[in-house]
Amino acid sequence: MRVFIMKTAEEASKTAADVMEKAVRAKPELVIGLATGSTPLGLYNEMIRRCKEDGLDFSRASSFNLDEYFGVRPDHPCSYRRFMNENLFDHINIDKARTHVPDGMAADIEAHCRLYDKMIHDAGNVDVQVLGIGSDGHIGFNEPTCSLASRTHRIYLTEQTRRDNARFFDKLDDVPTQAITMGIGTILESRTCLMLAFGANKADAVAGMIEGPVTAMNPASALQYHNDTVVFIDEAAASKLKLRGYYDAAAAAAL
Ligand code: PGA
Repeated sequence: MRVFIMKTAEEASKTAADVMEKAVRAKPELVIGLATGSTPLGLYNEMIRRCKEDGLDFSRASSFNLDEYFGVRPDHPCSYRRFMNENLFDHINIDKARTHVPDGMAADIEAHCRLYDKMIHDAGNVDVQVLGIGSDGHIGFNEPTCSLASRTHRIYLTEQTRRDNARFFDKLDDVPTQAITMGIGTILESRTCLMLAFGANKADAVAGMIEGPVTAMNPASALQYHNDTVVFIDEAAASKLKLRGYYDAAAAAAL
């Protein structure tokens, strides 16, 4: 993992946008893996700005989102499809027909999950996968003890995740208990993973991901087996790392 600790989330988001911009300019048909939540919003705002002001062209790109709530319709105010439309797709020139979000209402969930993996495979796999991390170490909705080899699947959400996400809903009881998520095995097939984490409530999960043992108790630690993961975090999220000096020295040499 390459770890970049930035002073602010804004700075980290802009640097992540540089990676995304370089990738789209090098390969206009880029297959982008996308995440929801508060963390990637700065990156998405920067992608929107660069599309509008700098002509960054997404017209030939396609995308696959990590996850969707189970039993939630795409037009539900809290669906991840709606989140993506409102926070990114409506504001860049990507062809919405080539944006994919798992269908939380699929009649046959098992078949839908297999199809989602096949679609990613048929698209040539994800080139750049944007990732956030849950305070419990989840990536996508792969919760602690989830198989580190998992493919796209239905998962039961932890109480902690539901509490963390309750801010997007009227009340905790409204947060769905299940979701469909790309598996960790699916995520590990992405060529580049772009991990973003901000804030002190992510510090333990971030330390486990980077420095802890690889364990299903911290699903993000599986990224230690990924060949090209770049981590952009702010000071607060980095506060529990032991090798801080090493990351700063390596980052200074790389930049
Ligand atoms: P957040 O969620 O960006 O809203 O903190 C991250 C995640 O749960 O993966």
